[in-house]
Amino acid sequence: MKAAIMGYGTIGSGVVEVLETNRDMIAKRAGEAIEVKSVLDLREFEGDPIHDKIVHDYQVIAEDKEIQIVVETMGGVEPAFTFVKAMLEAGKHVVTSNKALVADKGAELIALAKQHNVNFLFEASVGGGIPIIRNLSHCLTADVVEEITGILNGTTNYMMTKMTLEGSEFDDVLKDAQEKGYAEKDPTADVEGHDACRKIAILTSLVCGQQVDFEDIHTEGITKISATDIKYAGAMGRAIKLLATSRKSGDTYSAMVAPCLLAPEHPLYSVNDVFNAVFVHGNVLGDAMFYGSGAGKLPTASAVVADMVECAQHSSEHIPLEWKANKLTLADYRETDNRFFVRTTAEETAIKEIFGEVTFVRAEGVTGEMGFLTEAMTEGAYEEKVARLGAVIQMIRVK
Ligand code: HSE
Repeated sequence: MKAAIMGYGTIGSGVVEVLETNRDMIAKRAGEAIEVKSVLDLREFEGDPIHDKIVHDYQVIAEDKEIQIVVETMGGVEPAFTFVKAMLEAGKHVVTSNKALVADKGAELIALAKQHNVNFLFEASVGGGIPIIRNLSHCLTADVVEEITGILNGTTNYMMTKMTLEGSEFDDVLKDAQEKGYAEKDPTADVEGHDACRKIAILTSLVCGQQVDFEDIHTEGITKISATDIKYAGAMGRAIKLLATSRKSGDTYSAMVAPCLLAPEHPLYSVNDVFNAVFVHGNVLGDAMFYGSGAGKLPTASAVVADMVECAQHSSEHIPLEWKANKLTLADYRETDNRFFVRTTAEETAIKEIFGEVTFVRAEGVTGEMGFLTEAMTEGAYEEKVARLGAVIQMIRVK
C-alpha cells in the first residue's frame, strides 16, 4: 500500500522512522507493506533518503491513484484543511496529528470521509502516543462519560514538575524547557493553555458526539504560577498541574483549562515530567486512567502509524465516528463548583466575613500575605466574593 506524508518535520520524519523500524510487524498487521511514495514539503532535504520522494504541489499527491493513505503532519488549520479536503475528495484515507485542524474541522472532515467511503483518523492529535481517541470513541461506548480530566500538555507538565522539584521561577524553567527542546521558541500555545484547550475540545466532542468549539472553553495557562505558589502548594502537601477538564452538566458539559492544586490521593498527582494522562469517569465503568508519552517524535508517530494500519485494515470501508457538526452549547463555567486557594494581603477578619469557613495556609519564608482555602462554591460566587475582598495576589483551583 502506497502512502504520502504532508509535512516532513519532527512528526512526519518520525512516521518514516517508525514505518522503517517496524516494517515487518506493520506489514503483518496491515495485511501488506506500507510504503511512503511521496513527501510534500517546501524544503528539498538534500542527502536525506526521502529526497527523491519530495513533491511541492499537494495536487501531485491528490492525483496519484496509487496513493491510498495520506498523513498530514503540517500543523495549523490552513493550508492543512485545504490539502486534507482534497485528499478525502480524491478517495484517500487521511491520518493526522494536527489538533488545531481536528478541533476546528473534525466534524466536517469526518462527514467528508464518510461521503467518500474513506477514513479520517486522528489518534495522535491528543495525548501523543497514548491511545485515547480510540478508547473514547470505540471502547467506552457503553458509558455516559461523566468526566474527563487530563494532563494533556507535556511541555507545561515538565515545567510544573521542575518548578515543584527545584522551587524555580517560571521564566527560568521556560528557558530550560526551550534549551531541552520541550518548549517551542514561541511557547504561547503551550503555556497559555491553548494546546490543552484544543485537546479537551476534541475529547469532549467525541464523548458528546457534537461540535464543541474550543473558543467556548474557559482557559487559563501557567504563566502566572510563581515559586511562591509552589511554596504554598508544598505547605499543603499538594502539587500544581495544568488540568483540562470536561464534566457532564445536565444535558451538556462544562469544560475548563486551568492550573489546579492536586492532593496526593488524586490519580493525576504523580503524573510528572513530559508525561500525559487522561482520567475518565463513566457512569457504569467508574474510573479509568490512560497514562504515557504524550508528546515527542516517536510516541506521536507511533499513534499516526497505528492509524495508518487501521486504514489499511479497513481500506474499502468507513469506520463510523460519532462527531456531528451541530454545536454543543457548553454550560456557563461560572456555574461550576470548585474549591479555591487564594493568596491575599487582606485581613483575616475580612476573609472570614466574606468567605465564611476557610482554612488558613502559611508558607515558610513568605511574609506580608497569607493563603486560605475556601469551601466549594460556584465560580460565579467566588468572583463576587473576591470582588468584595480585593487585595488578591493569586487564585488556584483545588481538586
Ligand atoms: N506541545 C505539545 C505538548 C505537543 O507539549 O504536549 C504535543 O501535542
